Amino acid sequence: MTNTNVLLTGVTGILGRHVLYELLYLYASGRKMGALGVVIRTRSGQTGLERLKTIIAHRYRPAYLKGYAVNDLLKHITLIEAGIEELNAAHLATLENFDNLHVIHTAAETDLSNTSTANEKAFTHNYLATKHLLAWCTPKLYKFIFISSAFSIGHQEGVITDQYIQFDAAGDPVLNEEIKNRNPYERFKIKMEFELIKYCRQHGKAWQIVRPSSICGRMLDEPLYYTPTFNVFYLFGKFLYACSLSNILRMGEKIRIAANPAGSMNIVPVDYVAKAIVRSFENDAIGQLNAVSSRHVPVAYLFQSMCNYAGIKCDLTACEPPPGSMSVLEKQYYETIGPMFSSYLSTPVHQFDTVRLRGIMSDVVEADVVKGFKDLYEFAYENEFRSL
Ligand SMILES: NC(=O)c1ccc[n+]([C@@H]2O[C@H](COP(=O)([O-])OP(=O)(O)OC[C@H]3O[C@@H](n4cnc5c(N)ncnc54)[C@H](OP(=O)(O)O)[C@@H]3O)[C@@H](O)[C@H]2O)c1
Repeated sequence: MTNTNVLLTGVTGILGRHVLYELLYLYASGRKMGALGVVIRTRSGQTGLERLKTIIAHRYRPAYLKGYAVNDLLKHITLIEAGIEELNAAHLATLENFDNLHVIHTAAETDLSNTSTANEKAFTHNYLATKHLLAWCTPKLYKFIFISSAFSIGHQEGVITDQYIQFDAAGDPVLNEEIKNRNPYERFKIKMEFELIKYCRQHGKAWQIVRPSSICGRMLDEPLYYTPTFNVFYLFGKFLYACSLSNILRMGEKIRIAANPAGSMNIVPVDYVAKAIVRSFENDAIGQLNAVSSRHVPVAYLFQSMCNYAGIKCDLTACEPPPGSMSVLEKQYYETIGPMFSSYLSTPVHQFDTVRLRGIMSDVVEADVVKGFKDLYEFAYENEFRSL
């Protein structure tokens, strides 16, 4: 068996920790040999090591790891305690056993709003930080696996293939200027995809881009429905929950949500995405891959289900209701999360081509997110949308 040396970022996040769990299982069970490194920064008074231990010993770690002692699992990990922007030559020197390195870069800030703060965050923490990581690891690098977003294609109608980045006759990447991104987060994701390919071609390195859609809790591995934070579509539920606590919401009332009534959202379980990454990262035939569900969730079903839980109803409307006619709840919605949601809910009808993905995941039965949505959402609601 040849050694697979991996460095993983973002392991305190939703997806990164699940990639870590999957990889740890492979190394601890002897199915993979090699070195596994992680980059974690000190935060909220906790050192990187303390944060790593919390993740490995977590009460919601997947059941497939239960047979392994925390200390034995920790022995498989080399920890670099730093923020990505701080990585330097001394940190690189700690990776002396990591030749032919595969870097799986999941770390990012997810702010889908269209503000100057979101722009600054995406530019600094996603774009510049990724460029720094790439330059830093180059001496050890075999392949850089960039976790982007299926939404980096922006507003797009019809069938969406994996090939967001096209290539010219010389094999150089071409950035599609027609892409209509919804926010700076998406804009810097697609820019980074393009620049990653250019950089790797110039430096003779391999690259891969994996793009998840909206990530939800686990739907394959027990304990089910876990996610450390309730993000993206869950934010609507979190909003309704907060409104019900502060009496902004009246039972039985109706909220008008600006959305394409025929629209849908692609929601994918975090464990499915993590498995897709772990199955694809060593496959050099895969350049770009969307890690998405084959079936979308209709927006009408999604929002009505979340509203039902809060004891209200919802109507999907072509545009935002006139300010003078808005209820207190609607005003609150359009002043906070509404603009961010509207740009996703007004997306034209589209469908991802999942042929390549299903090819590598053929033995993994896809969870039915529509059917399982009630249980998925109940888990979030019962935990009051708190970080776990
Ligand atoms: N969640 C989704 O629905 C979704 C959908 C599509 C694509 N994605 C992409 O998937 C990837 C993972 O997303 P996620 O939802 O798992 O993210 P997340 O839960 O918000 O976690 C972000 C992770 O990145 C780390 N991080 C951010 N900036 C860092 C820095 N400067 N130095 C070190 N670590 C840093 C965070 O560390 P700290 O804990 O120290 O802050 C955390 O571990 C991201 O690239 C995201 O854009 C996510």
